[in-house]
Amino acid sequence: MTDKEFDVTPWDVEGNVDYKKLIEKFGTERLTEDLKKRIYRNADERNLYIDRDFVFSHRDMDKILEDYEDGDDFFLYTGVGPSGPMHIGHIISFKMTKWFQENFDVNVYIQFPDDEKFWTRDRSYDEVEKYAKDNLKDVAAVGFDPDKTFVFKNTEYIGNMYKAATKLAKKVNNSVVSAVFGFDSSTNIGLNFYPALQMLPTFFEDKRCLIPAGIDQDPYWRIQRDIAPKLNRKKAAQIHNKLVPALTGPEGKMSSSKPKDAIMLSDSPDEVREKVMQRAYSGGQVTKEEHREKGADLSVDVAYQWLKNLFLEDKSRVEKIAKEYSSGEMLTGEVKQILVDELNRFLKEHQKRKEERGGELVEQMMYEGSLAQEMWNNKVEL
Ligand code: TYM
Repeated sequence: MTDKEFDVTPWDVEGNVDYKKLIEKFGTERLTEDLKKRIYRNADERNLYIDRDFVFSHRDMDKILEDYEDGDDFFLYTGVGPSGPMHIGHIISFKMTKWFQENFDVNVYIQFPDDEKFWTRDRSYDEVEKYAKDNLKDVAAVGFDPDKTFVFKNTEYIGNMYKAATKLAKKVNNSVVSAVFGFDSSTNIGLNFYPALQMLPTFFEDKRCLIPAGIDQDPYWRIQRDIAPKLNRKKAAQIHNKLVPALTGPEGKMSSSKPKDAIMLSDSPDEVREKVMQRAYSGGQVTKEEHREKGADLSVDVAYQWLKNLFLEDKSRVEKIAKEYSSGEMLTGEVKQILVDELNRFLKEHQKRKEERGGELVEQMMYEGSLAQEMWNNKVEL
C-alpha cells in the first residue's frame, strides 16, 4: 500500500488507514506493552481502548509517567469542534480524558473552537452556537470533575487568551502552516491564525500537558513541540486513538456530516437498530450456505470490530464471537444484534445523564467550578 491510498488531516480522512504506516509518517511512537503496563500500574485500573490497541500511539507518555512517578503531576487537554451533533467516535477521546482525570486526579481543559468551525465550514454563528450548546451537554455527560475541569468556547474566552496567543502566533510562519495543513492562497486568514488558538491551551499550566485525541489532530502538536522550547515552555505529550470508520466500511472516518453512516449520540434505539442492521459493513458471506462454509472476514466486519475495540470488556466473549463468526457458525445478524444491544445500553445511559445533569454541569465547568473561576479571573500567560 502506498501513502497515497490513505490520507489523514485534522479535517478529513480518506482511504483505509494503515496505522502502522501513520505512526511512521507522523513520527509518533507505538504504545508498547511495557508502556501500557506502566500506565496501568500508575492508574490502578485497566482501560478497554488501551487494552485493545484502539488507543495505540503516543508522544512522551513515558515522560508523563516519569514525572508522575516522581510526584509531579500534569494536566489534560482535549476538544471538539461544534460543527454538528456528536457521534460515537467523538466520545472516545473524552472518555479517555475522563479516565486519566479519574485515575490521576488532574485538571482538564476542553476547547470548543466555535471560531474554527465558522471559518472551516459553510456555517453561520447561529448554527455553530446551536451545535455547541448540544455538544457541551454531551461532553458534560461523560462525567468530568466539575471543579477540576474548564470548558471554554474560543469566541468567549478569547479576551483572556489573546495576548498569549499573539506571542505564540509570532513563532509560527506561513510556510509552516502551509506545509503542515496545506493552507494556500485561498485559505481565509482566520484559519491561518487558528492553529495558535488550538495550541495555546497546551500552555495553560506550566506543567506537562497530555492530550488524549484522535490521531487526526496530531499536526497541531508537531508545531507545538517545535515552538515550545523557543517559548521556554514544555512540549505537549499526546496519546492517540484510531478513528472509528463509518458504518459502511473501513474507508475514511465516521463524520457528523454523514449522519446516516454514523451512530449519533442522540440516536434512538430504533435508529441504532436500523442503521446497524442495514448499513454496517459485513465481513460475512452473501448467502447463508456460503457463510456456513467460509465464515466471516473479521478484519473488515464493522460489528465485530466495534465490539472488540469499543464495547466488550469481557475478552473471552470477544474470542468466542471471533471463533464462531469466523468459522461460519455465527451469522452476521447475530453479531449485529449484540452490537445493537451494546450501543443502545451505552446510549441510554449517556442520554439520561445528558438530559438530567447536562445543563447544570456545563454551567459548572464553564463558569462556576473552582478551575473555571480561576481561569476567568486570570489571563493566560506565555
Ligand atoms: P473534531 O470535532 O473533528 O473531533 C473531536 C475529537 O474527536 C476525534 N474524532 C474521532 N475519534 C474517533 N473516531 C472518529 N471518527 C473521530 N472523528 C473525530 C478527534 O480526533 C478529536 O479528538 N480542531 C478539533 C477540536 C479541538 C481539539 C483540541 C481536539 C480543539 N482543541 C484539542 C483535540 C484536542 C476538531 O475539530 O475536532
